[in-house]
Amino acid sequence: GVKIATIGGGSSYTPELMEGFIKRYAELPIAEIWLVDIEAGKEKLEIVGAMAQRMWDASPYDVKVHLTLNREEALKDADFVTTQFRVGLLDARVKDERIPAYYGMLGQETNGAGGIFKAFRTVPVILEIVEDMKRLCPNAWLVNFANPSGMVTEAIVRYGKWDKVIGLCNVPVMATMLEPGLLGKKTDELIYKFAGLNHFHWHKVADDKGQDVTMEIIDQMYQEDNGLPKNIYDIPFERDLLEQMKMIPCAYHRYYYQEEEMLAHALEEYRTIGTRAQQVKRTEHELFELYKDQNLDHKPEQLSQRGGAYYSDAACETIASIYANKETQIVVSTKNNGAVPDLPADCVVEVTAYVGAQGARNVAFGPLPTAERGWLQVMKAMELLTIEAAVTGDYGTALQAFTLNPLITSGKTAKRVMDELFIAHKDYLPNF
Ligand code: NAD
Ligand code: G6P
Ligand code: MN
Repeated sequence: GVKIATIGGGSSYTPELMEGFIKRYAELPIAEIWLVDIEAGKEKLEIVGAMAQRMWDASPYDVKVHLTLNREEALKDADFVTTQFRVGLLDARVKDERIPAYYGMLGQETNGAGGIFKAFRTVPVILEIVEDMKRLCPNAWLVNFANPSGMVTEAIVRYGKWDKVIGLCNVPVMATMLEPGLLGKKTDELIYKFAGLNHFHWHKVADDKGQDVTMEIIDQMYQEDNGLPKNIYDIPFERDLLEQMKMIPCAYHRYYYQEEEMLAHALEEYRTIGTRAQQVKRTEHELFELYKDQNLDHKPEQLSQRGGAYYSDAACETIASIYANKETQIVVSTKNNGAVPDLPADCVVEVTAYVGAQGARNVAFGPLPTAERGWLQVMKAMELLTIEAAVTGDYGTALQAFTLNPLITSGKTAKRVMDELFIAHKDYLPNF
């Protein structure tokens, strides 16, 4: 049977993952699941771990959920390793959000200064995990969800020298779930093509005759519930921009195309209901109260309040597709290999790919128009510098990443924000 190891097993998303595995048991016969966490996450691990076991016990399948704080024990002979950990916990996220905001800049989990520091904290841990995998499960696939997912995947490939990795995000899943309905169609009646970077991609849609229907979807986007992830405030895109673009930007592009409005909204929320991390703490508390209920054996509705809803559709489908060589189309973070010719072939991009036993085979997207090409090249350079700084601990490289990031100003204030973040997160930055 298949052995799965999930790092950050105490996450409130674990029931989502279990639901996805239970649904796919016939094609992915799992024998054991190992949920790994750290001392600080022990209580959560025990609560959600017991809930996970109840979910399996309520299913027709005999699967044992093991809980451990010993990563090596979990990784030993694993077939698939999934990562959903948060270095520094939600308190670190509060700082990523608050500190830039004090200086009038956007601090967000994966964008702006906050996203850079989340990468600084996460990259050293993921590289340790990769080293463990080389010793303990050299044939395993790594399915990464830990954010910033694209940069973390890039670090795994570039610095970990580990190619059996797929990075995931729920944003493309949500788009492909919502949009067919806007045209009165089903998902398999539309052809999707995504390209770009994680939280920075665009997509095009055609019907089953190959006719482009992207603009028809854009028209509907202005009339109905956009189906955005819960953490992103819905400020509409400028219509003139989308008409010129002829592609659908991902939900996170709002931070770049409507920076002024998104920043103003974030600052207002931070003043009133708190940062997203503070809001999530409340949701998480409610979720864990539910998970404590010995009678609960299915994923509760309240989990859809988290931004990462439907993550299991990506993660479990990726694993089942590799295991059963299904060649399913999935949007993944993976080595470019020419799919996006505007970016180096050896860097990680987020694209539509066929996923099978050999991993991801990218669907070629082709060159992007002038504006999108410019954004992409700046953002990829910013990502590469961020990861390089995370690995080398070089201050100047970190400042280059800050200076390139479109959501961060340059000069004295930017440097002060960076210095404050270094102090705030010093316990989690071994390389600096
Ligand atoms: P969380 O705060 O619940 O953290 C999950 C668990 O990780 C916690 O139980 C924590 O104790 C544990 N942890 C922290 N450091 C660890 C370490 N070094 N080793 C093992 N476990 C460790 O986080 P969450 O809200 O469930 O999110 C988990 C991760 O998934 C985050 O990085 C988040 O950004 C990411 N995420 C990604 C997407 C996506 O689209 N890719 C969507 C949602 C969340
Ligand atoms: C999303 C994303 C994640 C993101 C998360 C935040 O939509 O795809 O990458 O970080 O949701 O959700 P949260 O509920 O933690 O704010
Ligand atoms: Mn995401």
